[in-house]
Amino acid sequence: MAETELLPASQAGISRAAALLQDGALVAFPSETVYGLGGDARRDDSVARIFAAKGRPVFNPLIAHLPDVDSVMRYVGMPPAAQMLAERFWPGPLTLVLPLREGAGISSLATAGLNTLAVRVPAHPVARALLAEFGGPLAGPSANPSGRISPTTAEHVMAGLTGRIEAVLDGGPCQVGVESTILGFAADGGNRPELLRAGGLPLEVLEAAIGAEIAGPGNADPQRPNAPGQLGSHYAPDALVRLDALSATAGEVLVGFGPLRGDLSLSPTGDLTEAAARLFHIMREADALAGPGGRIAFAPIPEHGLGRAINDRLRRAAAPRV
Ligand code: TXA
Ligand code: MG
Repeated sequence: MAETELLPASQAGISRAAALLQDGALVAFPSETVYGLGGDARRDDSVARIFAAKGRPVFNPLIAHLPDVDSVMRYVGMPPAAQMLAERFWPGPLTLVLPLREGAGISSLATAGLNTLAVRVPAHPVARALLAEFGGPLAGPSANPSGRISPTTAEHVMAGLTGRIEAVLDGGPCQVGVESTILGFAADGGNRPELLRAGGLPLEVLEAAIGAEIAGPGNADPQRPNAPGQLGSHYAPDALVRLDALSATAGEVLVGFGPLRGDLSLSPTGDLTEAAARLFHIMREADALAGPGGRIAFAPIPEHGLGRAINDRLRRAAAPRV
């Protein structure tokens, strides 16, 4: 493949990105959570190339990104509770797994053959402009090699995928910094969601909107895999990772939080929003500081609000490597 193009988030850059996608090419795009690796979700060839570029196992399905609730309804059925959440939190860092409509035209590679589809309406203005101009469902896993640290800048995407995709649309650093919260509705075909992945929209906010607790593997038992494919080691730097550290042992790079100072800090003021936004960037910095064969220790992060998503990513970064 020719060199990966770095496109500015101008009208010209967005039009170029949309034209490439319409041609079946792969374009990484900014979202408010992390950068996505975009390809036409209706085309088997494009979706197959997403899996190949990431080295992603094909049993792990992809999220379809769409510009608004109306376009989402063309692809999936929506129980009333899902509709309520969609109206309230879209565009935003929420993904809903819903029953796929028959004949919707989504590549069965994108859904890994499931009869459900994960859908999301992103809030980032560049993603919205791209979706409007592309005019279809955009498959978009995080734009990183499978298992590695998710990208929150165009430079991160280039570092992992250059030469493997046609272009990266540069929309600057992502504001939220961790992936979307995933709720599943499909399990009993009913109205009650379960948490499949903690993410950028805090569980407490969703529970308040629903007026009930939200259960699920991603909530009840953080040791168990949640969404398919999210097994074991993920979001992994090169260095080995230790959690809930109150101090560094010899040779470790310590990442602090709040009053616990480290070599680096997720947030010196103990602000979880800041910590989420910086998480993947700090993981990369700590990895570089630790060097080959190095080790990173993370200070404890409270398990509420965005802390739930941060801890989920840290636990996977610390999971045994296969
Ligand atoms: O914030 C995000 O969600 C980012 C941005 C780019 O939108 N995307 C992202 O995609 O994180 P990815 O592929 O890295 O993670 C999607 C997760 C995977 O764990 C996958 O297993 C799950 O969504 N998933 C996709 N379709 C599913 C389905 N039908 N049922 C259950 N889980 C599903
Ligand atoms: Mg990912």
